[in-house]
Order: sequence, then C-alpha cells, then structure tokens
Amino acid sequence: MTAAVVTGVGASLPQRVVTNEELAGYLDTSDEWIRSRTGIGTRRWVDTGVSTGDLATQAGELALRSAGVDRVDAVVVATTTPDRLCPATAPEVATRLGLTGISAHDVNAVCTGFLYGLASAVGLIAAGNASSVLMIGAETFSTIIDPKDRGTAVIFADGAGALVLRAGSADEPGAVGPLVLGSDGSLADLIQIPAGGSRQRSSGEEAAPEDYYFRMRGREVYRHAVERMAGSAQEALLRAGLTMSDVDKFVPHQANARISVAVGERLGIRPEQTVSNVERVGNTAAASIGLLLAEATATGELRGGQRLLLTAFGGGLTWGATTMVWPDVTAHISSPARPAVALAG
Ligand code: UT7
Repeated sequence: MTAAVVTGVGASLPQRVVTNEELAGYLDTSDEWIRSRTGIGTRRWVDTGVSTGDLATQAGELALRSAGVDRVDAVVVATTTPDRLCPATAPEVATRLGLTGISAHDVNAVCTGFLYGLASAVGLIAAGNASSVLMIGAETFSTIIDPKDRGTAVIFADGAGALVLRAGSADEPGAVGPLVLGSDGSLADLIQIPAGGSRQRSSGEEAAPEDYYFRMRGREVYRHAVERMAGSAQEALLRAGLTMSDVDKFVPHQANARISVAVGERLGIRPEQTVSNVERVGNTAAASIGLLLAEATATGELRGGQRLLLTAFGGGLTWGATTMVWPDVTAHISSPARPAVALAG
C-alpha cells in the first residue's frame, strides 16, 4: 500500500504570552497551583481579531516552505475552534495559500484532532485521491474558554502545527506507521460546549450565556486520558511490529505534564525520551502534536532517523497513536514574540 511520508513541518504561535501571574490576577488560582498540577508556566493567546484560520494559514505556509513545495493536492484542517460553525475552515485556508480548487475539509476530534487529521491525510494518499496533502492542526481555544473557569482557562491555549505529506513507501524516513484510533461517545459530556449546536437549538430552549463556553470534567478526563493514551500507544507499537526498545522519542499530546509523565511511566519510557513544550505553550488541543514536532525539530531535540511514538486523547471521547521514523527536515516556526532559536529554554 502507498504510504504517506512527512516532508515538511511548520508551526505558528500567536504573539501574546499569557503568564500564570496574569491569570492569577483575576482567577482564584496561583502560579504554584498551575505549575504543580499541569506543568504550564505560560501559554499563547491570540489578540483580538486573530482566528484559527489565520494561525492555520501561517503554519501551512511555513510547512510548505519546509517541504520546498508550493502546491499540494489536498488540505486537511483539524480544529475544535473553526472560524465559523459553517462552512469548514480548510477551504478558506487553502484559498489563502493560493490553492483554490483543491480538496479541503475539516476534522474535529478535539485534542486527538492532529492524529485524526493525519489519518485523513494518510487515507487520501493511500486511496490514490491525493499524492500530497497539507495537514494542519490549529486552535484558538482562548475564544471558547470561560474566562471565569479556573479549571480550563489555565490549561488551554492557541497555536497551529502543520505537516506536508506525499505518497511514498513505508520504509522511507517520514512514513507514517499504522494509526490506532478509538472513541467512546457515551462519555461525550466530559468535554463539551453545551450550546450552539443542533441539540440545543432544536430544543427550543434559550441557552445560558455560559453554555456557549467549553467545559471539561478534568479529574475524570485525566483518568481516561492516561489509560487510553498508554493503551493506544501499545497497540500502535504492536501493529507496527515494534517494542518500546525501538522507540527513541515519545511525542504525547501536551494535555498536562502530569499526564505525559503518567503515560510514559506506564509505557516504560525514560523521562529524557519524552518531548514536551507544555510549560511554554499550554494545551493547544488539535495543534499540540504538530506544534511539538515543529518546535522539537527546530531546537534539534528531534532529528532525522529517530523513531517516534505519538499518542493523543481528547473530547468525544477520542484517542489515538502512531509511530514513524522522523525525516531529516528543517522546521519553520513563526513566533514573533520569541524566536525559534530561543525555544529550547
Ligand atoms: O487535552 C485533552 C483533554 N484534557 C485533559 O486531558 C486534561 C485532563 N485533566 C487535567 O489535566 C486535570 O484534571 C486538571 C489540570 C484539569 C485539574 O487537575 P486535578 O489535579 O485533577 O485537580 P482537580 O480537578 O481534582 O481539582 C483539585 C482542586 C479542586 O478543589 P477542591 O475541590 O479540592 O477544593 C479544584 O477546585 O483544585 C481546584 N482547582 C484549582 N485550584 C487553583 C481546579 N483548578 C484550579 C486552579 N487553581 N486553576
């Protein structure tokens, strides 16, 4: 079967850095609580007027530049925070990239979005419907979090990460391995925006203003996240015919530093194998794995030839994992507030 091979990686971060101290200025929280419970020190939030599509377009442009191409056959945008409820964000992103006319669609799997988006890109290539795909995970979670909810406002953040993939063979560096994906809709209420969708609108009832905000039952989500991320990671290794000893770097969705540690411990991963940027960028949901791949490539922590294990978990509930040998690529990152060369700190 034709494999999908990563040839470029890009990322975009909004300029505005939001510190824990800033949040503690209007929420009943503290830098100490946020750091010890989540590992987050700062996050980026967009300025007024900046949308998910803006970040996605910039990350997409940088990924295309990283791949050294200016055309692809399809654009996939994974997001929980589309520019509008309708239509999808991807067609407009494609047009802004000068790609009007090509296939373009959105994927929503909340924080597992990057891996579900990747599966969509892999599928387009494997079926012969596209020979190259730009896959972007992008979010502006700051636009949906309740500023008064300390349980979510301190965690979620904005950003975009993108990959360019082309048709190739499974033994090439950059080839995406078997993808393990799962879901459990019986737990949909754990992570949700109650209002604005057809269920609330068809009820004929007016929604309370706070029902338009993102909600998460954090403690319950935490438990499922550790179990599902570890379980899907093990299954992805098995399907690829690998064991943990074949893995060089662990690239988990940046939900919370404690979740990454707990999943790593279950998998028998050494702490130095785990790649992380949650301390600086928070939880960027569908963007998180793409952003992490780009940043860790820019700092040299990820290098061509290393075997990666990727896993994610999010609303739906949804989860997933895959493996790949990272290709020799140069990451392009737009981060005006802090240049890429300084990202390692
Ligand atoms: O991205 C994919 C999906 N999301 C996740 O995977 C996130 C999963 N969940 C988590 O990361 C964690 O559950 C949280 C970071 C959200 C919360 O951490 P926790 O250790 O599970 O705390 P908790 O929800 O059990 O709350 C413990 C206490 C509570 O107070 P009481 O009831 O013990 O008095 C909370 O009200 O901490 C309180 N609390 C806070 N205190 C200060 C909750 N948020 C805050 C806050 N600052 N920001």
